[in-house]
Amino acid sequence: MSWVTNYPFTLLQKFCMNVIKCGPIPSHLAFIMDGNRRYATKTNVKKAEGHSKGFEKLGECLQWCRELGIREVTVYAFSIENFKRSKEEVDTLMQLAREKFQKVFEEKDKLKEEGVCIRVIGNLSLLPQDIRKLIAEAMLLTKDNNKSILNVAFSYTSSDEITNSIKEIVDGVNQNLIDVEDISEELISNCLYTHSSSNPEVLIRTSGEVRLSDFLLWQVSESEIFFTDVLWPEFCIWHLLGCVFKYQRSYNYLKKFDYQYKIEKPLTKKVQSFVDQLAKKRFEQLELYAKS
Ligand code: FPP
Ligand code: MG
Repeated sequence: MSWVTNYPFTLLQKFCMNVIKCGPIPSHLAFIMDGNRRYATKTNVKKAEGHSKGFEKLGECLQWCRELGIREVTVYAFSIENFKRSKEEVDTLMQLAREKFQKVFEEKDKLKEEGVCIRVIGNLSLLPQDIRKLIAEAMLLTKDNNKSILNVAFSYTSSDEITNSIKEIVDGVNQNLIDVEDISEELISNCLYTHSSSNPEVLIRTSGEVRLSDFLLWQVSESEIFFTDVLWPEFCIWHLLGCVFKYQRSYNYLKKFDYQYKIEKPLTKKVQSFVDQLAKKRFEQLELYAKS
């Protein structure tokens, strides 16, 4: 089970991927990987095995995305709400995270070769110290890889992300770094955990649940959202190609919408300097976590 898989594609898969690649390809795709426990029940294995299969699927899915030319992928791996699950299950998920983030070091050459940068978005302060350290080290180790970006939402909810962003902005106002008049949609976006990413064009949720579960609420307001009944460990390349195909069919309409309504406002020098300072502070915090 690996972050970077290299399974061979069948001729039919290659052909279909090449056909899809003739059309517009989203640059950023997000997944709510749901249904691991139902998969475990269905296949008569332990819940932990269901989550392991979920991780395995993530590796495969990243390979399909790389092959299709989807540069950035964001996945919901652990919600802050998930801390409310039984202690046994939270411990299992934390142990899985420990093993997988540890594996980043073993796979560092493969990750470099494929240019994969792993970023964790979320409230790291809620995590056990050893996992926080592993995450920080993994992020620092892969930060210069720039062909493909994987954002792992871990200890994440949108409500927490937006609240954190507002606190940073209030701090900035209190320290006279910015003024109340400087507060804008662009400033808030730039203070989110996802500040380095563009918004995903497509969000896919598996397992038949039709809700967003506090995931990227700010970022997906204009995204295409697909809900599929398949459980995450059973998600396959055909489901992915189906979603990209549907995205392509609505692409022209979406582009027109973008063109008519989206007005990008550049940040002023003062606001840009505040945003840069915040990014620096977060990076220094990451270095401290890595050394802890
Ligand atoms: C949702 O299924 C899945 C999770 C809460 C965990 C997702 C984690 C992985 C796929 C592993 C990734 C790990 C790392 C370290 C990146 P569920 O538990 O809600 O299952 P259910 O909907 O069937 O109850
Ligand atoms: Mg679920």
